[in-house]
Formats: sequence, C-alpha cells, structure tokens
Amino acid sequence: MIDTSNYVRFERVDSFERIEHGLLARLHGEQLRIEVVGDDVVRVKLSRGGSFDESPTFAVCVDPLADRIDFVVDESDEVVRLRTSAMVVSLWLEPFRLDVHRTDGTPVVEAAPDLAGNYWTYATLNDAFTIRRRTRPEDAIYGLGEKTGHQNRRGRDFTLWNTDILDPARTKEFTAGRPPEDLRSERTSIEFDPYYISIPFFYHQSHRDGSMIGSFVDNGYRGHYDFTARDEYRIHFAGGQYTEYIFAGPRMPDILSSYTRLTGRMAIPPMWSLGYHQCRWAKYTQTAIEQLAQRHRDRDIPCDTLWLDIEYMDGYRVFTWNTEAFPDVPGMLTRLGQQGFGVITIIDPGVKYDPGYWVFDQAIQRNVLCKTDGGDVYIGQVWPGNTAFPDFVTEAARAWWGELNAAHVQSGLVGIWNDMNEPATGAIPPDAMRFGGGQYPHERFHNQYALLMAMGTTAGLLDAMPDKRTFVLSRAGFSGIQRYAANWMGDNMANWDHLWLSVPMATGLGISGQAFVGADVGGFEGDTNAELFLRWMQYATLTPFCRNHSAIGWVDQYAWSWGEVVEDLVRDAIRLRYRLLPYIYTSFVTASETGAPVQRPLIFDHQHDHVARDLDDEYLLGPDLLVAPALRAGLTARQVYLPEGTWYDWHTDEAVSGPRYIRAELTMDRIPLYARGGAVISMWPTAPPSTSGYQPATMELHVFVPATDGSHRSVLQEDDGTTFAANDGARVRTTFEVTRAGRQVTVRADVDGDGYPAFVRRQFDLVIHGAVADIVVVDGAQRTLDGGRVGLANDGHAFTVELQAT
Ligand code: GLC
Repeated sequence: MIDTSNYVRFERVDSFERIEHGLLARLHGEQLRIEVVGDDVVRVKLSRGGSFDESPTFAVCVDPLADRIDFVVDESDEVVRLRTSAMVVSLWLEPFRLDVHRTDGTPVVEAAPDLAGNYWTYATLNDAFTIRRRTRPEDAIYGLGEKTGHQNRRGRDFTLWNTDILDPARTKEFTAGRPPEDLRSERTSIEFDPYYISIPFFYHQSHRDGSMIGSFVDNGYRGHYDFTARDEYRIHFAGGQYTEYIFAGPRMPDILSSYTRLTGRMAIPPMWSLGYHQCRWAKYTQTAIEQLAQRHRDRDIPCDTLWLDIEYMDGYRVFTWNTEAFPDVPGMLTRLGQQGFGVITIIDPGVKYDPGYWVFDQAIQRNVLCKTDGGDVYIGQVWPGNTAFPDFVTEAARAWWGELNAAHVQSGLVGIWNDMNEPATGAIPPDAMRFGGGQYPHERFHNQYALLMAMGTTAGLLDAMPDKRTFVLSRAGFSGIQRYAANWMGDNMANWDHLWLSVPMATGLGISGQAFVGADVGGFEGDTNAELFLRWMQYATLTPFCRNHSAIGWVDQYAWSWGEVVEDLVRDAIRLRYRLLPYIYTSFVTASETGAPVQRPLIFDHQHDHVARDLDDEYLLGPDLLVAPALRAGLTARQVYLPEGTWYDWHTDEAVSGPRYIRAELTMDRIPLYARGGAVISMWPTAPPSTSGYQPATMELHVFVPATDGSHRSVLQEDDGTTFAANDGARVRTTFEVTRAGRQVTVRADVDGDGYPAFVRRQFDLVIHGAVADIVVVDGAQRTLDGGRVGLANDGHAFTVELQAT
C-alpha cells in the first residue's frame, strides 16, 4: 500500500457555481469541475496550479460533453446536489466530500472516512494524488485491462506501468523485497504485476444487489489501484490531473458501451485476421517460409497468415530486409498471396542508432526522435543494441512513422506487428526519454507510447489505403488502444498455469474495451508438449485472436510437430474455428458497434449470477457459445458451470438447463463447448484453407431450441471482409429472433443492408437442435426436416420458420 499519510487532504469547499454542464467549485486554491457526460455518466476534474488540462491523455476520442443532458442543481447549507434522470451527485461543502448515487438511492461512489473520520475525496502531495472510496467486504472488482490473477480483482493491488515483463532490469523494482512465497517475486508467475498494458478503468459490483458502477481515471501517469482493504479501495496516480469518469451503471454492458463511446471501439477487422496465424521467432529464410506455407496446404491445415519476427531484418533495423535470407521479397509475397497467405512483419519502435542507416538518418533530419532533458537523442537498448525512439507524442513523428509503415505494407504485406512498445529500453532505464521535443517528462507519456505508435501506424495505413481495413497487433497499450490495434498478451510460458491465465486476462481486456485479444498459442517460452499444445489449440481456436507463436530455441510447435494423432485433432480444432467464422466475425462487428467483448466473462451476460463473479476457467465466445477449456494435464473430466438458460452440448446435442454445475467428460479430441438455447449460430458449410476469396453459396444456421418460453436475438453479418464499404451499407445483415411460447417456436429473420458485389449466398441450411416435429412451416409453406435439416433458398431476404417442439 502506498503511504499517503503526509498527503494534503482537501477539506473545505469555498464557493461553487452552476456552469454550462454542471458545477464549478473552488477549494484549496484549485477548481473542481463536475460535468454531466450522460444521464448516468459524470466527469470530475480537479485543476492543478489553478488551471485545467483539457486533454490529459489520448484515450478519449470524442467530445464527452457533446450531448445536452438535462440536470438540475439544488443546494442547502451543507450540500449541493446535481441531479439527472439517473443519478445524484452530492458535493458536501465541509468537510469536502463527493458522492454519487443512482436516483433510487443506491451508491455509485461514496467517499470513505478513515478511522479518525476524515474523508479522502482528494489528497495530494508533490504532483501525486489519491482518492479513497467506500466498498463492502463482499463486493467484487473487475477490469483494469491486462492484469494477472483472478477475474475478481478484490484482495489485490495493481500498478499501471507498461512493463516488458521478461526484462529483469525493468521488473526488479516490482519483484524486489518480496519473499519467495509471494508469487509476485517471480516475473513469469501468474500473479506478477504490472504488465504490458495499462487501462485505468474498472468495475465495482455491489454484492447486495449485483449492480455495477464503472470508474475511468483519464491519466497516463503511473497508477496504483489498491483493493486489499475490507472497507475501502484506493486509487493513486503519481502525477497529472485528477480526471475521472464515473459510470452509474447498473449494467455492465451499458457501462462498457459508455466507456467505449468515450475511448473508441475497434474498427471492423479484416476477415483474414480472424483466421489461424502461424508465427515463430526463428531464423527463417524465404525458402523456409514458402515451405512452411506449402506444408499447411499439403496437410490441410487452414491458415491465413504467416508472421516474420525480428530475424527477417538486416541487423534488426526496422523497415529493412535481410536480403541474403530473403532475396526476392516481392516474389515470395506474390506466391504466398496466391496460396491464400498474407504476411505480417514485426516493427519495433526502436530505431538502431546508426548514422548512415536511412531510417535513422531520416529521423534525425526530421527531428522526430525522443530527446533527453539536455537535448541529446535518447538512447536505450533493444535488439540492435543502441536504439533511438520516435517521439510519437508529436504529430510529425506519428506522420513519419505512418508513412514508413504504409510503404512497408504496400510492398505486399497485410499488417503490422508492434512489439517492445512499453517502451522497452533494456538495461538502460527509460526515465531520461522525454517527449514532445524534450518538453514533457517520460512518466507523462510512458503508458501511452504504444497507443501513440499504433495511432500513427493506423493513420498512415488509412491515408495510403483508405479502402483497406487495417490490422496492427500491439504488445503494450493504454485506454483507447482498441481503436487502432489488437493486443496479444506478451511473453507467456509454455505451461498450464499460463494457459489458464490467458482466460481471465483476455476477458479482463474484453470488459476493458479491448475485444481483439489472444495469447501466444502453445506458450512463448519453454518447451511445450503434445497435450499442452493440443489443449491450447482447442481453446485458442475459440478465442478472438488465434496465433501460434513461440520463442527461438524451444521445440517446434507447428500443427504437425507431434505426429499424426495430434495433428488430426489440431486440424479439427482449426476447422471448427473456420466453420464458426461467420459467428465469430459477427461478434467482432458487434464489438465495433457497442464495445461488447468477443471473449467475455460469464458475469458480462449473467451479472446477477453469484457463481459467475469468481468464475474464470470458462467464458463465452460471443454472446452464445460457452467454452470450458481443458486447463490441466491428464484431466479426464472437468466441472462446467452453465448459467441460467438452456445449453446444448455442442458435441452430443444434449440439452441441459442452467443454472447448474455439470461434470463434462474430457476426451482428447475436443473441449467442452455449449450453445445457448434460443441462439442461431451461423457457420460456413466447410472450412476453407484460407478465408481469402471464400464466399460460399450456402450458410448453415444452427437453431438451438430453448426449453422455456422467451425470445432471443442473434445476428449474422456478411460483407466483403476487406473494405469499409460494409459501414456504408454494403452488407447483408440478418437478425434472427427465436421465440418460444409453449410448444410453438418461431424463427423470424429480418434483413438489412444493400448487399455487396462478392455476395453469392443463395441458400441457408437450417439445422434444428432440440426435439421438434418433422414438419416445419417456412413462410407459410410446409417443409419436412431431414435429420433436423432443411434447405431454404435465400439470397438475402427475410423469412419466418415455425416449428413445434415435441
Ligand atoms: C519479444 C516479443 C516476442 C518476440 C520477441 C522477438 O519477446 O514479445 O513475441 O518473438 O520479442 O521479437
């Protein structure tokens, strides 16, 4: 716990007035602005040295005050209240206190008094500030993005400081002084903190009524969140302005939607980026890469993308190729493209400090490198040795970087992989690296470095190729990174603990605005083995981003590395992913529109389910598939929790009613997977070798008949998968509503969108799961189900099917 005993508490409000969007108060020589962002969202800011920083970070990408929200202010001697239709903000004058409640009186945030009865609404010391809030011991905490350990963050504290976790020089300060039994003493443990990505956004759930609130502190300095105390939680930032968005909830999806309205949502991803990715840090040659591609095709392992790690470069100089190993890059890329493979290369921010190397020389000429206080070019240590860093805080550096990336991609690549962007500086501490032409200290932008790098990269790609959806994969990030990049979870270990860790880490990122996530499949460091690899593949093919990646020097972990038995099962897993791509893709489309995660904790859709609060060894993929991975060696069965509703075992079609725990047998050929009753899961009829050019004439629609009355909606979006035309209506979006009333089941499909040139679908194959009579009525005409199936001619129009449950 950070010692704040010397901090100066703000205790008394001197005056206040109503302003356009809320209230302005004066206290302790500073100003406090309380502004209504939405009926259920309020922003609180405290000036420093009397003035406000109006854009403290690059996280928020809209004008938060653009909407006119009705509010009223009333006051008494003690307290001023600002009321909207959903919440009441109470500003207590002396002692100073700020509380927010919903209109029904339930708490959103309440200042916590210490043992002496003093409130810590805001206290500051030498640029740092802290706030303390009330909680109940049983309440739960979620979010904060990429964090280790369990989904419910209660009982732990976390630092927000983007960190290259495998670097002993950079992690020492976080491991030092911890006894060996403290898992945080070991940087490869499943509790180590901090990690690569910092997202100062979390949820607090009331145990009593299950309601949630959200808090986003828009500050990029080193943050600290402490949830270890029984009755309060503490937020601390080492610098910068106190700017907080408070979300009254009470529903998690609404809070996430509001948070991502402010910080942005992912763009619609290219379809190929949802395919299987093969990556490896290895000294590949062009011939080896082409053979690798061929091997995937020969062995019928679907795969869309091959990745090149740092060894493809000339001496680790970014934007160069090792021409000995890769003598004919354009030829290689063309041939791979013809086989349906895209290629992605790594681009680290570090530019080799090497006068005469064109990228370095350009950077010097354009004056776009980070400087020290004295005006030197800052030097750190990365792969090429001495390395300079683009000053992404400046528009000029971002534009330059965007141009370099655009040219690199236009040479025939499909995307960009950004690594070491915490920024990682190796043995040399990053502190002397300043930003904005030397104007700003390192701490101000450290956590935003990757965000700014991805911003420049994406802008450059879109400038050069406005019609092409972008793909950038980033290791580090900050709130808002989802607008520009997907994230992988950095350097994990090839062990079962890290396989498990990737579940709460992915769902934690998902509910923190970043939907496009995945861990290195198989494990990055260490020798993986047949069982671990297979279980990892079976799981990862049901996660948002599915990339096999491992470090140099460890055993091969290709799909075929453990012989035919494993290879066949791995192929099955990848094929299932490809067949599910219409469903997975549509989940991404939803993420781009509402912020809803693709890999989600059960608590997201089942907020009032007490079991779901601490459940982090299973999750939902999109709204309607429940995945329960095999997370230990040698397991022959596992417990699976099914929340409320009807759940169909994907493999046996058996329907089970939740909420309940069941025992699921674990055979080696698959992991437990369940479909929600009421859902329509769209599938391609076959798994293509690559998504490239694949537009099938038939789409399978798997309808899961619910056991109880009610209705449920599902969506399928079909579009060209590569351009932004879908956003302007060039798509076919089918919305299904499955309604059950007694034994009568109706599937209604409505369609919108203008279609698109490559659209060739002419048929839906309806597959009914659940016992129903053989005769169904399609748009008024009787049809007979054959083995639960019926084909419907459909080129993008509405239809209705009526079924009788038996
Ligand atoms: C870092 C990355 C890893 C990559 C390696 C070499 O460790 O996290 O993915 O393979 O650098 O570039």
